[in-house]
Amino acid sequence: MEKKPVQNTDYVVIKAIEDGVNVIGLTRGTDTRFHHSEKLDQGEVMIAQFTEHTSAIKIRGKAEILTAYGEVSSEKKQ
Ligand code: TRP
Repeated sequence: MEKKPVQNTDYVVIKAIEDGVNVIGLTRGTDTRFHHSEKLDQGEVMIAQFTEHTSAIKIRGKAEILTAYGEVSSEKKQ
């Protein structure tokens, strides 16, 4: 039988506060690995969803992140 795709309407908004912020998508399923890395420069915004292929999103660098759960900032490693 065909697997029903995950239907998700929530978005995650990521705004880069510095150059070189990385938005990394991690795979869904038993194998958790990076499948996509997007580099954002200061002021750039990425709007993304969790999908059939993406179960987690890792953000490296200083960014503002808006989700349905609220707002959070990632920090640059000191
Ligand atoms: N092809 C990926 C997917 O459909 C694209 C993607 C969606 C993505 N959300 C993401 C990549 C979040 C990185 C981070 O799952």
